[in-house]
Formats: sequence, C-alpha cells, structure tokens
Amino acid sequence: MITTIFVPGDSTALAVSADAVAAEVAAVARARGITVDIVRNGSRGLFWLEPLVEVAAPQGRVGYGPVAPEDVASLFDAGFMQGKEHALTLGKVEELPWLASQQRLTFARIGTTDPVSLADYEAHGGLAGLRRALALAPETIVQEVIDSGLRGRGGAAFPTGIKWRTALQAEGGTKYIVCNADEGDSGSFADRLLMESDPFTLIEGMTIAGLAVNATMGYIYVRSEYPHSIAALNIAIERARAAGLLGASVLGSGRAFDVEVRKGAGSYVCGEETAMLESLEGRRGVVRAKPPLPAIKGLFGQPTVINNVVTLATVPIILSRGAAFYRDYGVGRSRGTLTVQLAGNIKRGGLIETAFGITLRELLMTYGGGTASGRPIRAVQVGGPLGAYVPEHQWDVPLDYERYAELGAVIGHGSIVVHDDTANLARLARFAMQFCAFESCGKCTPCRVGAVRGVEVIDEIIAGRNRAQQTVLLRELCETMVDGSLCAMGGMTPYPVLSALNHYPGDFGEGVADAGN
Ligand SMILES: Cc1cc2nc3c(=O)[nH]c(=O)nc-3n(C[C@H](O)[C@H](O)[C@H](O)COP(=O)(O)O)c2cc1C
Ligand code: SF4
Repeated sequence: MITTIFVPGDSTALAVSADAVAAEVAAVARARGITVDIVRNGSRGLFWLEPLVEVAAPQGRVGYGPVAPEDVASLFDAGFMQGKEHALTLGKVEELPWLASQQRLTFARIGTTDPVSLADYEAHGGLAGLRRALALAPETIVQEVIDSGLRGRGGAAFPTGIKWRTALQAEGGTKYIVCNADEGDSGSFADRLLMESDPFTLIEGMTIAGLAVNATMGYIYVRSEYPHSIAALNIAIERARAAGLLGASVLGSGRAFDVEVRKGAGSYVCGEETAMLESLEGRRGVVRAKPPLPAIKGLFGQPTVINNVVTLATVPIILSRGAAFYRDYGVGRSRGTLTVQLAGNIKRGGLIETAFGITLRELLMTYGGGTASGRPIRAVQVGGPLGAYVPEHQWDVPLDYERYAELGAVIGHGSIVVHDDTANLARLARFAMQFCAFESCGKCTPCRVGAVRGVEVIDEIIAGRNRAQQTVLLRELCETMVDGSLCAMGGMTPYPVLSALNHYPGDFGEGVADAGN
C-alpha cells in the first residue's frame, strides 16, 4: 500500500522551508526503497506548527510539526508512516483543540485536499453549491444569499445579496464579477490562504455570483506580492476550463462564465473597489467618486459585483447547505462565521474561523496563548491599518460588526495584530498617519494633505512642543479627515490615531511638562 504524506505548499509553509522538507521526505523514502505519495496540501492555519507534515495513517491523519529537513530521517525511523510516536507527534490533526473548537465553513477544506485537484475538490463536497445554483433562477440565488445574512468580508460589511440584487436589476451589456484579492491589511492572510489552499472554492463562488446576476466574466485582482496565489489560481482556472466548469457552457448548462487573474500593481489603495476598477482598466489606481455604484456602472462602465475573496468563497456553502444553515451561526446582524487572522507578537498565530460573537480575550489568550515574546499584551489593532487599537477593558465585547462600531472600532477583514508592552502608541499613531500619507491616492485634500500634517503634529506632540495645543489640533484634523475624505483611506486613518490617543494618553506625554522649544 502506498502511504500519502501531506507537506503544505502554501506561502506560509514555504517561508519555513516546506519545500526542503518535502524534498527530504522524497529522498529518504527513495533511499529506503519506500514508495510514498507526497501531496502538497495547503496549511490548515496553525502557523506556529508549520511545516506541519501529515501522514494518512490507519487511524486517520496524524500530524508532526514543526518539521525541519533534518527531522525527516528520524520520523521514518520512528514509524511515522504508521502514525507512530515521535518527539514531534501532534496526534490526529482534526482533533487538535485549536482546530476542533473552530467552526470551519468557508475554510472547511483547507489543508485536507490537494488544492489544484478538481477530483479531490468534488470528493470533499465541492461543486454541490454550483450544481444547486444551476437549477435556480437568478432571483432565487440572490434571495438565498440575502437570507443567509452574509455581509462583505473585505471590510465594509455591506450585505452581499443586496449588492447582487442591484447588479441583477441593473441594465447592461456584459456584466462582471470582480474578486478583490488585493489583501493589503496588516496581519491579514485569509484570502491568500484560501487561494493557495482551496482555489476551486473561490472559482465556484464567483461562478455562482455570475449566475445570480447574469454576469459572464470574472476577474480576480490579486496583489503582486502573492505569486503563489496567482500560480495556484491559474492552474485551477485552467483545469476548471478543461473540465467544462468554466467557459461557454458551465457544466453543460448553456450558461457562460469565465474567470481570469489580474496582477495588482502594489498599492494599498487599489484594494478600494473603485480604485481597483481604474487599475483593472489600465489606469493609475485613483478612487472614483460614488455614485454611480459599481453594481450599476462599474468595470468598463458595466454593472459589476465586487466582492472580497472570503465573501465569494462563502457562497458555495450557503448554496449547498442553505441560507438557514449559514444564518444559524453568529450573533445580532453578524451572521455566519468570522475569519480571524491572528498575527504580530503572538505565540500561536494563524487562521481561526468561528461564529461571530467570540471575544478578543478568547482569541488572544485561548487560541493565541499570549505574546510570542512572553511579555504582557499592551495593544491590539483589529481590522488592519485603518482599524482601532482595542484596549484590554474592551476585550470581552463580542466580535460583532455593530458592537464594534459602538466602540469606535471595526472588525474589517478580521486581522488582529498584537503588540507587547514595549509598544509606544504615539509612534504607532504616527505610523498610521505616515502610512496614509504614503498610500493616499491624492484625490481629496483631507487625506492627501491631512495625513502629512498629521505626521507633523504627532511629531510635535512626541517632542513635547505645545503638547496640549497640538493635541487639540490633532483631534480637529482627525475630525476633518473623518468627515471630509472621499474614501475610507483618509476617513478611517483617524481610528488608530484617536484610539491610541484616547486609550494610551501617557504615550502622548499627557501629564508631562512640555519640553520647550
Ligand atoms: C483603502 C482601502 C483599501 C481596501 N482594501 C481592500 C482589500 O484589500 N480587499 C478587500 O476585499 N476590500 C478592500 N477594501 C474594501 C473594498 O473597497 C470593498 O468594500 C470590498 O472589496 C467589497 O467586497 P465585500 O463586500 O465582499 O467586502 C478596501 C477599502 C479601502 C478604502
Ligand atoms: S481619502 Fe485618500 S485615498 Fe481616498 S480618495 Fe481621498 S485621497 Fe484618495
């Protein structure tokens, strides 16, 4: 019998020498005359254990990790092909509490399959959603997505089905589905992990979106820093076409839909949907004024649905299991599951998919295990570079879009970046303004000029020059940026700045005498 050994091949695993581990497994097996089937699966999201090698043993999939190339011979010696004990044994991977306690719906398949095998995809429940959608009228698909309560996972949390209904009802020639895979938020990697570990789910979700709004063409706008995602998607798209899943007649239905990948040009603001459309049309990524909404007049002036990777990849399970199944997860108006990406100074970082309503404390302590440095956690930024710093007295508030809005915070794309007690929040606030100044598309004054002035004002505060007056000025500047910016780049940069100022005033020298000029 040939044993299957899984060695992840996604970016996270590759960054910690997974290729060398896979090569060593092949070399040792060859030297010992053992035939093995090495599958390059995707990571399951337990990043601190990568490379996490799994063996399809008689008792189930047994994990070992983190495995270095020099561990491989001893793994064979210990009988890892039969799932036997070794110093790196983790036990059955699916039973690891970190994984077993999650509710993996969108990410149910990651790590379990060969990412670019369509047969493996189907064997693990793939295409069931699409097959159901093909039997439904566009309005019925849209209603199913509305009923599921799914909201956009890219940041703004807009109800997905409502956006689709607008595009379905809009007059137009060719309609488009654009997948936003620009994933520029600090600490975020969910889109990348999905594209590299289970790309067919995204293709299936986009195809269902196409059927729902009568779009015939889809583009996936992937940031240029994700070469492995682009490669995995291109292979998957090619195979989907060869199998008749994409093309002139999706699964023989007579309905056309195709997908192409477009590489981004390395700008954070190109993740903003209208700047992305500019970029896709071949121009510099500058934000467009709205209206018109892209769902009415988007790519090449045609009705266009723009959704994040995680949003689109959630659609297949909604169609296959039904809206009620998905809506049963979550709290309040935040239905379904939240994809948390735990990053920064954290002991056990990785991907956690769980129903909305979990608290930050559970994520940081139970899943994360505290900081990697062993020092106390001081600051936690939720929702990317435009998200607020959430102080410890708010860690027990359930993660729910509305509850976070009440705090003056956002969930955004679900990334969480942790800092220990060596962090200086005035410097992090300065960084937020500097980031905005650097990434601003330049179209509106509050952002283009405001962010530069913001850096200068924070520099004055840090230097202790007219601190009280400069702090008032900083608050006024933030108010202007919130109220006057054309998009969330300038409009939300004040979130990290003001949360830092409000919750960590000591870092801004409050109560300390001015340094004088
Ligand atoms: C500066 C800026 C950057 C953004 N970057 C991303 C991004 O990288 N990925 C993403 O999905 N949405 C991003 N968004 C949000 C998009 O504009 C848009 O709301 C989203 O793609 C819609 O998809 P959804 O409804 O599925 O979330 C960004 C917004 C702004 C203002
Ligand atoms: S807020 Fe900034 S990024 Fe957005 S349109 Fe204005 S200048 Fe451009």
